[in-house]
Amino acid sequence: MADTTQAAVLPRTPRFVQLHHEDRAAVRDELIRGLLAPAAFTSPKYLYDALGSRLFDAITELPEYYPTRTEAAIFAAHAPAMAAQLPSGATLVDLGAGNGEKAARLFEALQPRRYVAVDISVDYLRHALAGRQRQFPALDMVGVGMDFSQSLALPAEAFRDGFSGSGDGAPRVLFYPGSSIGNFAPAEALAFLRQAHAACAQGGAGGGLLIGVDLVKPARILEPAYDDALGVTAAFNRNLLSHINRLTGADFRLADWRHVAFYNAAESRIEMHLEAREPLAVCWPGAASVQERRFAAGERIHTENSYKWQAADFDALLRAAGFRNTRVWTDAAGWFAVFWARS
Ligand SMILES: C[S@@+](CC[C@H](N)C(=O)[O-])C[C@H]1O[C@@H](n2cnc3c(N)ncnc32)[C@H](O)[C@@H]1O
Repeated sequence: MADTTQAAVLPRTPRFVQLHHEDRAAVRDELIRGLLAPAAFTSPKYLYDALGSRLFDAITELPEYYPTRTEAAIFAAHAPAMAAQLPSGATLVDLGAGNGEKAARLFEALQPRRYVAVDISVDYLRHALAGRQRQFPALDMVGVGMDFSQSLALPAEAFRDGFSGSGDGAPRVLFYPGSSIGNFAPAEALAFLRQAHAACAQGGAGGGLLIGVDLVKPARILEPAYDDALGVTAAFNRNLLSHINRLTGADFRLADWRHVAFYNAAESRIEMHLEAREPLAVCWPGAASVQERRFAAGERIHTENSYKWQAADFDALLRAAGFRNTRVWTDAAGWFAVFWARS
């Protein structure tokens, strides 16, 4: 890749591969199963509709939300060491790309051949990727709308040359920042990392996984990051209910629900919940008649886990998933870690 910001290069339109076909019936069934469970729950992936993605961007600007700025400081401090380890001319695959800002900061050092941005929040991804393409007109960019919570089977089209259509054979650098891996319980995280290892191995030699991981720290630092004074994380959590209403036809009233976030030290995870302020019923259209779930005052819907790791345990997890030659960089306080794991 030559100069990615060259003004003379005409902007391209990013290619887009849509795997996340709103299989509305399956999505609805999954959500309703969770709402009817004795301890109601939903997957954190439903926090991200277009507004949820924007609210998450706002969270990253909050003084309490240390992960984004701590991770950015690690990248800034160790950029030369990282660039020496990672292959140049790779296909950079951004898992849960969001606005793509973190990946864009790596373009200069990595000189990727192609940028593949993957996200479930499809409308937001299209918008964000078009902006990135204007910023880096010479770089080949592909958007992939997909839900990778069950399967990380990345589409072959994303690794084909845009003009010739042939496979690129380039090393793959999978980029999974922001400690999104923390949304998975440890056994699920291992399964996900095994799939990430297989995806890296499908590319040329020298590929691997560059991943940001939030580390165990005192609850007095963790809890405000998920329950900020301005109430942005509360809005992000409650917005889930609007998304569920759209996906299922349910009649959640957002004002009936309180945001709750706390550190569960025994499980080493932050938990986010929505708690009913008073006794209430939520209804949605069923196949034959209206269905409902009653909630007592104080009863909760578990909406997200964010697991915190010890660096040594996460290193062992990467190796159990098949990665070799792991490297880790942390901040001075040991709050956050960035791992490079060769496939
Ligand atoms: C915590 S945000 C991180 C965004 C950005 N990478 C960062 O580090 O700031 C998680 C991102 O992953 C996406 N995401 C969450 N669950 C997903 C899933 N199951 N499949 C694909 N993308 C998902 C969300 O839409 C969101 O953009």
